[in-house]
Amino acid sequence: PVLVVDFGAQYAQLIARRVREADVYSEVVPHTMPVQEILARKPLAIILSGGPSSVYEPGAPRLDPALLEAGVPVLGLCYGFQSIAAALGGTAAETGVREYGATRLSALDSASVLLDGQDLEQNVWMSHGDCVTEAPAGFRVIATSSASPVAAFEDPERRIYGVQWHPEVGHSDRGQEVLRNFLYRGAGIEPSWTTGNVIDEQVTRIREQIGEGTAICGLSGGVDSAVAAALVQRAIGDRLTCVYVDHGLMRQDESAQIEKAFGESTGGAKLVVVDAEEQFLTALAGVTDPEQKRKIIGREFIRTFEQAQADILRASGVIDAEGHAEAKAFLVQGTLYPDVVESGGGEGAANIKSHHNVGGLPEDLSFELVEPLRTLFKDEVRAVGHELGLPDEIVWRQPFPGPGLGIRIIGEVTKDRLDILRAADAIAREELTAAGLDREIWQCPVVLLAEVRSVGVQGDGRTYGHPVVLRPVTSDDAMTADWAKVPYEVLGRISTRITNEVREINRVTLDVTSKPPGTIEWE
Ligand code: XMP
Repeated sequence: PVLVVDFGAQYAQLIARRVREADVYSEVVPHTMPVQEILARKPLAIILSGGPSSVYEPGAPRLDPALLEAGVPVLGLCYGFQSIAAALGGTAAETGVREYGATRLSALDSASVLLDGQDLEQNVWMSHGDCVTEAPAGFRVIATSSASPVAAFEDPERRIYGVQWHPEVGHSDRGQEVLRNFLYRGAGIEPSWTTGNVIDEQVTRIREQIGEGTAICGLSGGVDSAVAAALVQRAIGDRLTCVYVDHGLMRQDESAQIEKAFGESTGGAKLVVVDAEEQFLTALAGVTDPEQKRKIIGREFIRTFEQAQADILRASGVIDAEGHAEAKAFLVQGTLYPDVVESGGGEGAANIKSHHNVGGLPEDLSFELVEPLRTLFKDEVRAVGHELGLPDEIVWRQPFPGPGLGIRIIGEVTKDRLDILRAADAIAREELTAAGLDREIWQCPVVLLAEVRSVGVQGDGRTYGHPVVLRPVTSDDAMTADWAKVPYEVLGRISTRITNEVREINRVTLDVTSKPPGTIEWE
């Protein structure tokens, strides 16, 4: 791989993504990883990320010069660039002038390896207080800006390169070219990381891991679990069983769609659908507190899923008739690369213990996790899903919370209320899709204010019905969100149709709160 050494920037993952967009596989490692360990992973090249510190600050993350002497091509970005300068005898210093945001270069060497063929007229994205004032011996200065006397340098002999700016951000006009020049020309790497290769590689790995074993995968209806299941199905065929727990809190026709789409696209993978509507609604009866609802739904979910697991494992001989474990069970999960990086990286499959005594699984059973998406970003998961033939409605499905419509009914959850909300939600989704807004909008919860009534006039008579709230939001990662500026005509159509077609609803309102302060869901 190409290893991105993370110096504490918020950019390290982005750098890895950009490298992969250049069709080269890349991973992030912490700057605290010893050089021997980094080299043991046989990197084709190393990229040093930016970081918040100042190179000469006591306690600042330090670049071990040994990393620059190993003969592996290195590209330093921002802090990484300054670290190279400091490590090899150049000078990085505080100039007192800060450069933030889009910056124009004042000179550029278009005959260099890194900036090959580029012209001066370009924006580069800067974010730094310190700068390199003197390049180390043997390096050629290949760009300058008003506040950075040395804005980029290179030593093609030693294959060490650096730029002061952030080529990984979209605001650097020709940033991707800088990365490509480094990878292809500077480091001589062949671009070969493609979706097809990812699939082949993962299928091989899964076969090695599971061997002759049996695997189970819980499907949520979302893209991650579907793609993980499709990969495992391709690797081990019908030794994979998927479980879909229908808790009765899904949207209109959703369970049927998931079942159909999944069956078709995986060439008939085994799918067990557990109809648990009654069980969930009974458990939720009389409950209005959001946290309590979530806890109950979570608990019932685990209970149901484990019961289904136990049945499958008994049928496949992993658990014997007395209820003892005969073999290891494999559990497929759709963990993504950002989760892996954020939880500190670790290699290999973790062993988890399941929650005991709820669903009839034996005490001596241990699961081994199969996580075929551990190295992938969300957009790559979508590409893999598409390549595997999963339909667009799964590949591009908007996020939907595990507790489903249970947390979109404010008040007690009942079958009648669910049906009302399902009808209103289906209309909103239909109109947003018809208006071509599905990819622009992150998601649009429809919330039923089941304990609120207001007076209306429908037909010739007075009504006393419930309001619904439309909550369309835009977001990149659900951590923050803004309310989506859905065109008035579209909102108008949704409102007219809901109040005409869903008898119990006589008022449609719009939530115009960003997150923070509001969360996306109401409960
Ligand atoms: P909030 O409401 O916290 O939601 O702004 C952020 C994102 O997470 C989804 N969400 C959940 N997803 N289980 C899930 O799988 C949950 O319990 C859950 N709660 C919220 C929500 O739809 C939004 O995309």
